[in-house]
Amino acid sequence: MASRHQLLLRDLLVTSFFVLAITSHAKGSYKSIFSFGDSFADTGNALHLLQQPNTPPPYFGRLPYGETFFHHPTGRFSDGRLVIDFIAKCLGLPFVPPYFGSGDSNNSTAGLSSKIYDGGANFAVAGATALDAEFFAERGIPILFPNASLGDQLKWFKELLPSLCSSTSDCNELLRNSLILMGEIGSNDFNFPLTQGRSIEEVQGFVPHVVNAIGSAIQDLIKQGAVTFLVPGNPPIGCLPLYLTQYNSTNKDEFNHSTGCIGKLNKFAMHYNGMLQIELNKIQKLHPHAEIMYADYYEVIIRLYRQPQLFGI
Ligand SMILES: *[C@@H]1O[C@H](CO)[C@@H](O)[C@H](O)[C@H]1NC(C)=O
Ligand SMILES: *[C@@H]1O[C@H](CO)[C@@H](O)[C@H](O)[C@H]1NC(C)=O
Ligand SMILES: *[C@@H]1O[C@H](CO)[C@@H](O)[C@H](O)[C@H]1NC(C)=O
Ligand SMILES: *[C@@H]1O[C@H](CO)[C@@H](O)[C@H](O)[C@H]1NC(C)=O
Ligand SMILES: *[C@@H]1O[C@H](CO)[C@@H](O)[C@H](O)[C@H]1NC(C)=O
Repeated sequence: MASRHQLLLRDLLVTSFFVLAITSHAKGSYKSIFSFGDSFADTGNALHLLQQPNTPPPYFGRLPYGETFFHHPTGRFSDGRLVIDFIAKCLGLPFVPPYFGSGDSNNSTAGLSSKIYDGGANFAVAGATALDAEFFAERGIPILFPNASLGDQLKWFKELLPSLCSSTSDCNELLRNSLILMGEIGSNDFNFPLTQGRSIEEVQGFVPHVVNAIGSAIQDLIKQGAVTFLVPGNPPIGCLPLYLTQYNSTNKDEFNHSTGCIGKLNKFAMHYNGMLQIELNKIQKLHPHAEIMYADYYEVIIRLYRQPQLFGI
């Protein structure tokens, strides 16, 4: 199934050395985390949505997923924890519970009581796109989760909110004291068409749409009272084994000499990250009271490829 390969893109993330801007904030600064995104941040939603009764779990609901920390699969696309887990820990908050299911791969029907959401909720779904299904349908591009886009995730958030706060001012205060993790979201908008053989030039045309979708989501949440956002950019996708295989070439010039990654795909990721940062700066100027932090996943991850020996690889 194509989806398996697409989801596998994220399996590579080594999260424990992420140094995020968030560490400048002391424990207790935030009462909760609300998270939107894809497999970089999914703590169990996709597993719940894909798990069928009386069938074996999907591959990411089996070992070695989860083996090093939770000691059983939780739906995270990792053998250990994700960036969101480390952020929660840093802030003295519990692991952010998935909106769907319980994160318990043995019981996909288990739901969460609203009490458990007090520390926040995670709407991220592995394979999710920033843009809605229609965008891809119009272009004949099949996607994995047609109803888990950023727009859908915001809808779920709005459905949950009344169970967490009772008046507009109450909800405003809840959001003011929350950290919003906006992403990583957007790389699947590029991964699906690229892995389906669409040209980089065509997919580059999607960038303004993706950036705009993320910008709109942030402004929507600001209107509801949210103040603090952490917005990760695209990783160096030209280093992913999937693309190294798809774009393999006998022409050495296609690869970056110091990293071995596909040059034009990493340039694409950098272009997108530049556009995203321009959008974030624009929103920051419009809303001076907000704090919008860009998380540079690209730079952190490319270090691994530049000097793997520093990381014991
Ligand atoms: C799920 O089942 C496996 C195998 O029986 C077990 O090792 C694991 O601890 C269970 N997970 C949870 C969350 O109970
Ligand atoms: C799964 O979770 C549901 C809802 O919390 C619960 O009613 C049910 O007993 C659980 N099943 C198992 C096998 O633990
Ligand atoms: C997604 O949408 C389709 C068609 O509208 C529907 O059949 C499916 O149940 C939806 N899935 C989820 C997870 O909401
Ligand atoms: C790329 O092609 C070369 C030569 O055919 C091969 O040795 C190498 O394993 C391939 N790399 C990938 C990632 O498929
Ligand atoms: C190759 O990658 C390194 C590390 O990211 C970067 O500094 C350099 O500019 C890249 N070289 C080219 C030709 O793009």
